[in-house]
Amino acid sequence: MERVKFGNTDSMVTPMGVGTYYDFRWIGLAKVLRVKPGKDRRVSAIKAGLDSGINFIDTAEIYETEPFVREAIKGRNREDVFIATKVFPLHYSFDGVVKSCERSLRKLGTGYIDLYQLHMHSSPEKVKDALRGLEKLKDDGKIKHIGISNFNLKQTEEAVSFMKKHEIKSTQMNFNVAHRNIEKDLVPYCKENGIAILAYYPLAHGVLTSQSSIGKEVLDEIEKNHGKKTIPQIVLNWFYSKYDSVYPIPRASNPDHVKENAGSVGWKMAPEEITMLEDAASKIQGPSWSGDNTA
Ligand SMILES: NC(=O)c1ccc[n+]([C@@H]2O[C@H](COP(=O)([O-])OP(=O)(O)OC[C@H]3O[C@@H](n4cnc5c(N)ncnc54)[C@H](OP(=O)(O)O)[C@@H]3O)[C@@H](O)[C@H]2O)c1
Repeated sequence: MERVKFGNTDSMVTPMGVGTYYDFRWIGLAKVLRVKPGKDRRVSAIKAGLDSGINFIDTAEIYETEPFVREAIKGRNREDVFIATKVFPLHYSFDGVVKSCERSLRKLGTGYIDLYQLHMHSSPEKVKDALRGLEKLKDDGKIKHIGISNFNLKQTEEAVSFMKKHEIKSTQMNFNVAHRNIEKDLVPYCKENGIAILAYYPLAHGVLTSQSSIGKEVLDEIEKNHGKKTIPQIVLNWFYSKYDSVYPIPRASNPDHVKENAGSVGWKMAPEEITMLEDAASKIQGPSWSGDNTA
C-alpha cells in the first residue's frame, strides 16, 4: 500500500489506519473483570491490516487494547509501524501524562510512541499542563509527535497557543461523508496550519457500510469508472479523493472487513463522483454516530 507523509511531519503512513476502540461495555469488562471478549479475533484483525500493508494503528490508554497492538506488531520492524495512542483527561497534569506515557509504552512493548494525543478537551489549565508534559516527552524521545482529539476550533486555537517548543501535528475528530460539520471551520484551519486529521467513525459506526446508505446509483456509477468497489471502500476513499492529510481509522475487529477496507486505497474519485456521493450521504439521518462522541 502507498505511503504518504503524516501531515507536515517526516513520518510516513498509509492513507488509512486501523482503530481499536470497541465499546464502553467491552472496556468495562476488560477493566473490571479482566476479560477481553474476542481478543484473538481482534488481534488477528490488526494483523490482517498490517498484512494488507496498513502501517497506522490507533489506540488509547482507556481502550484496554494497547496490549493487542503489542501482540499484533510482534516480530515486525517497529520502525515500519506508526502507533498512535491517547492519554485520558484524568491524567492531564505534567507528571500525570509522563506516567501515563510510561504505562502505555510498557503495554505497547515499545520504546517510543509515534503520535501521543490528548484524548479530549478539559479545562484550559489542565490542557496547558498536559501539553507541557507532552513537550517534555518529545524532548526525551518518548513520543515523536503531539496530537489532540475532540477539540473544537476555539479549543484547538487555544491549544496551539499553549505550545512553547513544539507543534501540535494532528487532531482526531468524528468525520465522515455523512457527518461533515468540521468542514466549515476546523478542516480549513488544520489545512492552513499543517495539522493532520485522523477521522474517527469514518464508516459512521457501521451505518455507512450497507448499500441502503448511499444507494445503488452511486455504486453503479463508481463501478463504471473504477471497477467493482464496495460501499465501505467508496466511503473511505472519499477521504483520500477529497483531502490530503486526513486519515480514516475504521475499527479493526473482523479480519475480512479490514482486508476489504484496505481496498479503499490506490484509486481516486473524480470531483463529480465526490459530489454525487456527498449528495446521497446528505440524505442519511444521523442517529447516535452523528454526535461528537469522545471514546
Ligand atoms: N478519539 C475519539 O474520541 C474516538 C471516538 C470513537 C472512535 N475512535 C477511534 O476511531 C475508530 C473507529 O471508530 P468506530 O469503530 O466506532 O466506527 P467505524 O469505524 O466508523 O465503524 C465501525 C463499524 O463498522 C463495521 N465495519 C467496518 N468495516 C466494515 C466492512 N468492510 N463491512 C461491514 N461493516 C464494517 C464494524 O464492524 P466489525 O467490527 O464487525 O468489523 C463496526 O460495526 C475506533 O476504533 C477508535 O480507534 C476515536
